[in-house]
Amino acid sequence: MSADDTSGSLDRPTEDISLSINGESVSAEVEPRHKLSDFLRDAQDLRGVRVGCEHGVCGACTVLMDGQAVKSCLTYAVQADGTEIETVEGLAEDGALHPIQEAFHEEHALQCGFCTSGFVMASKELLDENPDPSKEAVEKGLADNICRCTGYQNIYDAVLRAADRMDGESTVDEEEEA
Ligand code: FES
Ligand code: FES
Repeated sequence: MSADDTSGSLDRPTEDISLSINGESVSAEVEPRHKLSDFLRDAQDLRGVRVGCEHGVCGACTVLMDGQAVKSCLTYAVQADGTEIETVEGLAEDGALHPIQEAFHEEHALQCGFCTSGFVMASKELLDENPDPSKEAVEKGLADNICRCTGYQNIYDAVLRAADRMDGESTVDEEEEA
């Protein structure tokens, strides 16, 4: 058997897991060593889950597990058994972007976009827990995420804009928008 055999025919132990991913029930057989990030990207084809450092440092792989932001590169797929996982792919509804995604677009809060899904999911946890955050709270809430392209200011502005919008009372100056 070659060392790069990934066919699963090595008689490695596996476990059955059942979970919800973006509102859909999923059952799968995974090896205990499989990371949640790889399971979501490779087995579930959710490529919005980005893998950067694979060491829990960059936050690119952030997803929500039962509403809490987790680094999926530091989480085993078996740990997701019985949980509800949300990824960036589950945010848009009926083709309409989630307010956080809209705000990132409008505030030009991304350049290459590699980090963006992780920032968006971390922002969702932040706004779910604190719908009206101060700028300092946004900075603190996103401290686990690294962006190599932007200066962070537009990301913070996007989260504050999304907070206004999700509150139903946009404080964005309409003339500024025109
Ligand atoms: S890829 Fe998970 S934190 Fe960087
Ligand atoms: S937009 Fe490129 S890494 Fe953040």
